[in-house]
Amino acid sequence: MNRNQYLINHYNNYDEDSRLVPKHGSVEFLTTMKYIEKYIKSDDRVLEIGAGTGRYSHALAREGYDVDAVELVEHNIEIFKQNTQPNENITITQGNAMDLSTFPDNGYDITLLLGPLYHLYTKEDKQQALSEAIRVTRPGGIVFAAYVISDGCLLDEGFHRGNINVAEYIEKGLLDAQTFAAKSEPKDLFELVRKENIDNLMSVFPITRLHYVAADGCALFMREAIDTMDNDTFELYLNLRARRFIGHFESCD
Ligand SMILES: C[S@@+](CC[C@H](N)C(=O)[O-])C[C@H]1O[C@@H](n2cnc3c(N)ncnc32)[C@H](O)[C@@H]1O
Repeated sequence: MNRNQYLINHYNNYDEDSRLVPKHGSVEFLTTMKYIEKYIKSDDRVLEIGAGTGRYSHALAREGYDVDAVELVEHNIEIFKQNTQPNENITITQGNAMDLSTFPDNGYDITLLLGPLYHLYTKEDKQQALSEAIRVTRPGGIVFAAYVISDGCLLDEGFHRGNINVAEYIEKGLLDAQTFAAKSEPKDLFELVRKENIDNLMSVFPITRLHYVAADGCALFMREAIDTMDNDTFELYLNLRARRFIGHFESCD
């Protein structure tokens, strides 16, 4: 099967548009938006690569920013288009994060790469996507790059919920028996990394790290508790997160 076909099949049957809606999902959205809003300036141009159904693109377009978006999967693009409101200055193009040749160098102030990196399975492919994101971002602009961190995922999906059979993953070679480092291929859908992998990926680029943020932190792990919090308690939880869990965005020098 074509390597993108696994991803297309997955998103054709997954409600990506609802992922950030429940209280526990909104933690990732609110945290990411908080950091975007820390840096974005009026008249900034935004490119979202791997935009999904456009949660971030539409939120920023509704705040008045000019937004261009690129997405691989047609099904998500259709929902992105349905979500577009008449007052938004926004475009969506079908494309691949690894080849943004239809976009000019230095064309954007803020570039969001919140999706493709955890669906690319080799160092070369991830660096190609990062290199394209950095190329289209002006010097001094900011790239927000998202990864899925393996240890958190193993704790929650493996040891906590049993959705991942850790012993079976080790047997299949998807996890190293000693280090628990993860390895995946397109059929596995998600590529899990650790901070040292991210540092290694980024080390070849002339950029400065501004933050390394746990965008959803413990929210998936403790989703049941978060979903039943009253609004005051949820606010307190967000405030604690804002002080304690810091994360990962890059600035182009
Ligand atoms: C979990 S969604 C995240 C969507 C959105 N960026 C967000 O953070 O809410 C990941 C998205 O990245 C897209 N994607 C994955 N690999 C891609 C690639 N190589 N080029 C473009 N989009 C890609 C997927 O199709 C999917 O819509």
